[in-house]
Amino acid sequence: MSTDTRAEYVTALIDLHRGRDRKGPGDSDFSLNILSNLSTLPIKPRIADLGCGSGASALLLAQRYQSPVMAVDSSSVFIDELRERAKQLGLEHLIIPIQGDMAQLDWSVGSVDLLWSEGAAYNLGFEQALKIWRPLLANSGIAVISELSWFTDNVPEPALAYWQNAYPMMGTEAENIVQANRSGFSILSTHRLPSQAWWVNYYEPLRERMQQIEITPITQSIIHETEEEMRLFKKFSDSYGYTFYVLQAA
Ligand SMILES: C[S@@+](CC[C@H](N)C(=O)[O-])C[C@H]1O[C@@H](n2cnc3c(N)ncnc32)[C@H](O)[C@@H]1O
Repeated sequence: MSTDTRAEYVTALIDLHRGRDRKGPGDSDFSLNILSNLSTLPIKPRIADLGCGSGASALLLAQRYQSPVMAVDSSSVFIDELRERAKQLGLEHLIIPIQGDMAQLDWSVGSVDLLWSEGAAYNLGFEQALKIWRPLLANSGIAVISELSWFTDNVPEPALAYWQNAYPMMGTEAENIVQANRSGFSILSTHRLPSQAWWVNYYEPLRERMQQIEITPITQSIIHETEEEMRLFKKFSDSYGYTFYVLQAA
């Protein structure tokens, strides 16, 4: 893909997700359940949400802890949406929106107690993301990072073929755990996002939006790709999905 086509593709992809609360699969109750089991955080943790989109998790974290959240995303469209949502929820005093690259943060070493990243680490590669983010964490700080993961070693061929093209670095949970250990983390727990959350909170709102946007050759190809992704997920969601890795700086 040429640089111009790539830029056009990203713009169309951002437009497709415009106005959706979640830019990737996730679920608030599921996240709150993970948080309720974290016992080692300070009462007012220093929090970061990396690849925050329009703030599905940043807003939840701010509300839950009543503590500031540094919310980073490369898309100005999503950061503007986050600002607006924070205002509507009366949380603007707790949300620090940062349009920037989550791989290039100039924050001090050990400056984050809770690092959250949902559906975004794959943009850097899971292990690479962990290695870049590890120094940001305080002693015994916690990272909760979701990553598309294989649930089996015997992946069905159609799912393998699709994801080898879309995300060739996708690993099994066991492989991701090895990568996390190698990057300076111990594993506290792992949690699989239920497939229902993909449909209700992500695919269905996206399908609605797909019927509203202007069709161009690029949007047509993105829609086609997304529909294929949905068809595969419907058939093979027992074999892969988002796993949330709850990690502690070791
Ligand atoms: C699948 S979306 C998930 C967004 C959000 N966490 C959610 O669950 O709604 C991935 C996000 O990562 C952002 N992103 C991709 N590469 C990035 C980078 N290098 N730095 C910051 N954000 C990035 C995208 O703009 C997008 O908002």
